[in-house]
Amino acid sequence: MKGLKRIWNIRSITTDIKSRNVFKPLTITENEPDLEHYANNSIVDYNSIRMASERIKPFIHKTPIFTSQYMNKLTGRNLFFKCENFQKTGSFKFRGATNIILRLKELYKSNEFIAVTVSSGNMGQAVSLAATQQNIKSVIIVHRNCSKVKKEAMKSYGSTIIEYSTNRSDEDAVARPVLKEIGERGVYILCNPFIIEGQGTIGLEMMQQIPYLDAIVVCSGTGAVTSGIAIAAKAINPRIKVYAAEPQSANSIERSLNTGKRYLFEEFPTTIAEGLKTNLRSHSWDVIKDYVDGSITASEEEIKEAMFLIWQRMKIIVEPSGATATAAVLSSKFHQLPKELKNIGVLVSGGNIDLKNFSWKE
Ligand SMILES: Cc1ncc(COP(=O)(O)O)c(C=O)c1O
Repeated sequence: MKGLKRIWNIRSITTDIKSRNVFKPLTITENEPDLEHYANNSIVDYNSIRMASERIKPFIHKTPIFTSQYMNKLTGRNLFFKCENFQKTGSFKFRGATNIILRLKELYKSNEFIAVTVSSGNMGQAVSLAATQQNIKSVIIVHRNCSKVKKEAMKSYGSTIIEYSTNRSDEDAVARPVLKEIGERGVYILCNPFIIEGQGTIGLEMMQQIPYLDAIVVCSGTGAVTSGIAIAAKAINPRIKVYAAEPQSANSIERSLNTGKRYLFEEFPTTIAEGLKTNLRSHSWDVIKDYVDGSITASEEEIKEAMFLIWQRMKIIVEPSGATATAAVLSSKFHQLPKELKNIGVLVSGGNIDLKNFSWKE
């Protein structure tokens, strides 16, 4: 595919693996489930999220909730920051990745598949570690502009990295030729119900930690974490509000909610929040259109300011994507929401930042 640069030839990897007899060909017999069909047709609900929570518990951190009097004063509300920047691999993505890897292993009754994902960095790191922990190979396809620390981390967790350079916002098109080359052992992992139920475990945990939350604000890209949290939180308290937080330039949820039709960017939008430069996926949209109460967008300046405040005031490292929900809560749009929304859960979704090369420009 044009624009796809291999820094490691995938065929040589699989041949190498075959010659070392690590992988036997994976044959899908009549009795084995068609995974794609299974994933696409499974229902994410409170129960499946609770089961995911039990499934991933031995592998993940239960992350803390931080508060800041300073931030409370700024917003006039009580903010509860769910610090998933402390999650393994530095972002919440490890929850969904662990869940899907365990689910696939369960379904295949084998670890002889190759997990393939397209990632701006955090999902790649998460899939990489989750797969390696289960003795499963993984291939991560990243944009060549992906930050060096994220690429290094993926490699160190054990993945093969493939770089691409197109700016077309179509992850599936980028993944297709790689999957074709890998053959039947390749399993494509992006936003699907197994990921959503894994990310939804954050909602469950937040509601256990702070049962009296009135609203939760979630940094949103593909919408997987937003939809998972919305399902879990609203099952526990149907009156709770759930808002997506998006960069102004990457506001596919806002646009989709305004028109009632999923909006897709043709090119990756420009934003400092690299994890959110993506499109709302259909599985998430199916949930978001019914469960999410709105999208609050933040300008680039607001995202940078929120990131700065989190570093400065709360003494924790957050990346721009991870600061987007905080930026939304600090914005004038959020200020206009009813004052009865007093106790607000704010997702701090990730802290993977290249401290040496970080630039405050998008
Ligand atoms: C730090 C961070 N926050 C939020 C998101 C958005 O998550 P989702 O794609 O589930 O909407 C991402 C996605 O890469 C991310 O890396």
